[in-house]
Amino acid sequence: MAKMWAGVTAGNTDPVADDFNSSIRFDKRMFRQDITGSMAHAAMLAAKGIITPEDRDALTEGLAGILEDLESGKLEVDPGCEDIHMFVEQVLTQRIGDTGKKLHTARSRNDQVALDLRMYLRSECDEIAGLTADFAEVLTDLAGQHKESIMPGYTHLQRAQPVSFGHYMMAYAMMLLRDLDRLADCRKRINISPIGCCALAGTTYDTDRRMEAQLLGFEGICLNSMDGVSDRDFAVEMLAALSLLMMHLSRLSEELILWASWEFRFISLSDAYTTGSSIMPQKRNADMAELVRGKTGRVYGDLMGLLTVLKGLPLAYNKDMQEDKEGVFDACDTVKMCLRVLIPMLQTMQVNTGNMLRAAQSGFINATDLADYLVKKGMPFRSAYKISGELVALCLQTGQVLETLPLETYRQFSGLFDEDLYQAIDLKTCMEKRLSEGGTSVASVEQQIAWVRAQLKKTRGEQGSGT
Ligand code: ARG
Repeated sequence: MAKMWAGVTAGNTDPVADDFNSSIRFDKRMFRQDITGSMAHAAMLAAKGIITPEDRDALTEGLAGILEDLESGKLEVDPGCEDIHMFVEQVLTQRIGDTGKKLHTARSRNDQVALDLRMYLRSECDEIAGLTADFAEVLTDLAGQHKESIMPGYTHLQRAQPVSFGHYMMAYAMMLLRDLDRLADCRKRINISPIGCCALAGTTYDTDRRMEAQLLGFEGICLNSMDGVSDRDFAVEMLAALSLLMMHLSRLSEELILWASWEFRFISLSDAYTTGSSIMPQKRNADMAELVRGKTGRVYGDLMGLLTVLKGLPLAYNKDMQEDKEGVFDACDTVKMCLRVLIPMLQTMQVNTGNMLRAAQSGFINATDLADYLVKKGMPFRSAYKISGELVALCLQTGQVLETLPLETYRQFSGLFDEDLYQAIDLKTCMEKRLSEGGTSVASVEQQIAWVRAQLKKTRGEQGSGT
């Protein structure tokens, strides 16, 4: 079939070239944005007297019918069309006749595709932010339940100091809050309208770009037409924000995998999020968490892919830019899937506080507190550190722990030791004493929870009022 753009060429391209050139397979998911954008365009054209009110009504009605039929499945996207923009215009003209051909006045597919992508990513941004906030809330709820559950905190994956499971969960909640911040920040730059930039240079028609932008809920317009049609930095930013979000999710997933193992048994994942092995009947695999960890790689790949596509492209639009969509769509789909599985997985997992406490009791994680005890009695920290280390070594040789070592033994190392040392190295005391802001004490975790809850409430409020 001859192309809509047939003119100087006959438009009879080779079918292999057609297939290669076409993007409808993946850009059809922007049909809502494309149609809504076109409705606003018709409204602007009529407001400026470029088309008549009757033309506008016919276009709007035709477009509304197409939207309805696509939503209901009555109309199917024709995979033979080059892209979703061509498809909608073609069906419109078939349905309402020559008036349909007026829609593309004072615009180009170059500003149209940039508009559709910005609108699409804007709504994805909101959906992903909503899920991220939901997940942060789940972590905060867990923290509320476990602000007194003692577990070992690690550095170098070696038991280091006691922390609460609640404090641990809040660390991830804080990361997610920054992810939310990044999404909100990149949304600001997504939410600038390129429509009216036309092919690259603007238009000779007396258009009103700001009216069209406002109708579509944009905060402003791109102020240089060549920039408006040719940059995709907003999509790169979104991919970067999603990559960081996935980085956080992958770290948490790794912990869940470890904690669910027989070596740790800090948590038990519910059956609904655990898989078995086809050969080993005892297996309870944390496949979902492993997949979140694995899928992080593809989101990073999507980011690198788009950066590489854009590198060195001359202004303005180039067909290379058609390659912008699949990666960013894939990243959005992937992140949403990951959050949708992590949320119920954490809501239903069992936290084995007894196992956490046992692990905390056997790793000398109060050795720092033992040194601090001596410091508080007047010994310089380095000397106290040395004595504390020697006592741990002694315990290891004799199969004891600091809590069970007799006072006489302590006194052989320093006369500063007294009965109250046992209170000082009690794990609960060790945790409770870390009262510094942001520390692991119950009071500090409560403060963190209150702050995160307030931030989440604010985020949801802002989201609720946006487009
Ligand atoms: N399918 C194209 C894309 O995704 C739409 C813009 C085409 N513009 C053009 N001048 N060929 O980028």
